[in-house]
Amino acid sequence: MAKTALITGSARGIGAAIALRLAKDGYNIALNDVNEGMFENNDIEERIKALGVECEKFICDVSKYDQCEAMVKAVKERFGSIDCLVNNAGITRDGLAARMPEEQYDLVIAVNQKSVFNLMKLAGSVMMRQKSGKIISLASVAGLYGNPGQINYSASKAAIIGMTKTMAKELGSRGITVNAVAPGFISTPMTDKLTEEQKNRMLEQIAMKRYGTVDEIAGVVSFLASDDASYVTGQVIEISGGLMM
Ligand code: NAI
Repeated sequence: MAKTALITGSARGIGAAIALRLAKDGYNIALNDVNEGMFENNDIEERIKALGVECEKFICDVSKYDQCEAMVKAVKERFGSIDCLVNNAGITRDGLAARMPEEQYDLVIAVNQKSVFNLMKLAGSVMMRQKSGKIISLASVAGLYGNPGQINYSASKAAIIGMTKTMAKELGSRGITVNAVAPGFISTPMTDKLTEEQKNRMLEQIAMKRYGTVDEIAGVVSFLASDDASYVTGQVIEISGGLMM
């Protein structure tokens, strides 16, 4: 039976690239995003089906535990198993800590970090019963090294690294691997919001002197989701063109 991958926040950007890549690898795909509007004027579902695998959209705000519970149940019912979970959904609400309203901090923690608890727990339970599975989460270089203006975002991404190592230890004996990738500066709608000055400052620090592409993230996720990575767990792979060494 074909394996199934659930990718959160997969209507666009890195998540959509990961969904397409895992479909090419032969996974059936459970797409997710926060509302139906994210899939308007968007042919991701058709492009995945054209690759000969099954695909369905599951609308859910991943920061909400009850919605995640319903989504995991629905994905399991539709496809029969959840073999790979990619925690990709994420937002930024940048600002210096001294001026950041409390709600702005809490929102980023809820969407980027609480969501990972929700789905590591819920999809992790399905995988425990299966005695197999791969969990891959999107951290960030901001979580490894910090970034001014991103106290909320860097906290959420650093937390994902701790959660990845904890769950690797909790789930390892059940045949489940848990890893994270930490992208650097990747061209997507999220980073399009940065000013030219911010973008140029980043470029100066990158050894490869260019931004990454969504496919360069998807390639590493594909490896972690494959049998080639069957003995890799609890790891954080930086994909940043040599931002820090
Ligand atoms: P994006 O903004 O293009 O895509 C994020 C997707 O997540 C969107 O489709 C959005 O609707 C969805 N989403 C947001 N809140 C959600 C919620 N509550 N429930 C379900 N879906 C939700 O962002 P991008 O650049 O593709 O980023 C993907 C991941 O990669 C994020 O976790 C981000 O933090 C991480 N990342 C991105 C980097 C970059 O340079 N673009 C660098 C490092 C990490």
